[in-house]
Amino acid sequence: MAFTYFFRDVQTLETIRDHALPNLRTRRYIHIWDAGCAMGPEPYTLAIILRENMGHMYFRNVKIKATDIDGSNLFEKIIHDGIYPREQVDRIPKDILEKYFIPDEYMKNYQLAGEIRNAVSFKKHDLLSLQPVEGDFGLILCKNVLLHFNEQERINVIKMFHQSLTEGGYFATEQTQKLPPETAHLFEAVVSNAQLFRKIGS
Ligand SMILES: C[S@@+](CC[C@H](N)C(=O)[O-])C[C@H]1O[C@@H](n2cnc3c(N)ncnc32)[C@H](O)[C@@H]1O
Repeated sequence: MAFTYFFRDVQTLETIRDHALPNLRTRRYIHIWDAGCAMGPEPYTLAIILRENMGHMYFRNVKIKATDIDGSNLFEKIIHDGIYPREQVDRIPKDILEKYFIPDEYMKNYQLAGEIRNAVSFKKHDLLSLQPVEGDFGLILCKNVLLHFNEQERINVIKMFHQSLTEGGYFATEQTQKLPPETAHLFEAVVSNAQLFRKIGS
C-alpha cells in the first residue's frame, strides 16, 4: 500500500534535521536514500525541511535517491514532474506551500519548485532483492515499509542499509519500528524519542 502524505511524521524528519544534519553538513555532498518513498511526498518533505535549513548553494549538494517497488509504475513520472492535486497539499503549512509550490491557474494542481525537484530522483527498486542502491549514503530513511516484511526480511534489509551507509551514517525509521536484536550491534541510538540510529563500524 502506497499510503503517504506530505509532512507525515514531521517529528522524525525534524530529529534528522536537529541531530543528523549538523554532522552531514560537514561533508561535501549529502547523499540520502529514501527507501519505499511511495509517490514522493516523503522525499519532497525532507528536501523542503533541509532547504529551510541551508542556503541555495549548499542545498545543490543534497541528492535524495527515492526508491520504491512501485507496482503501479506511476511513481517515476509523478516524482519527476513534482505535480500534486490540491487535496494532497492540504496539510502543508501555508507559508511552505506558498514558498515551494506553484499552483496552476485553477489552483487544482501544485508543482514543486525546480530546486526541490532537482534534489530528488526516483529509481524503481525492490528492497527484498537485497541489491543495494548505488551510492555512498550519509542517511537512509525507510518509513512504514519494514512492517510489511517478516522478521528475517527486516534483518536482511537493515543489514543491507548498514552496508550502504558511509562511516557514521544515519538510519531513520518510523516511531513504532524497533531494530531487530540481530542488528542492534550495527547501530547506536541517536535520541530516545525517535528511531534515528547511527552506523557503528565501517
Ligand atoms: C505505506 S507506504 C510508505 C511511504 C512513505 N515511506 C511514508 O512513510 O509515507 C509503503 C511503501 O513501501 C513500498 N514497498 C513495499 N514493499 C517494497 C519492497 N519490497 N521494496 C521497495 N518498496 C516496497 C510500497 O510500494 C509503498 O509505496
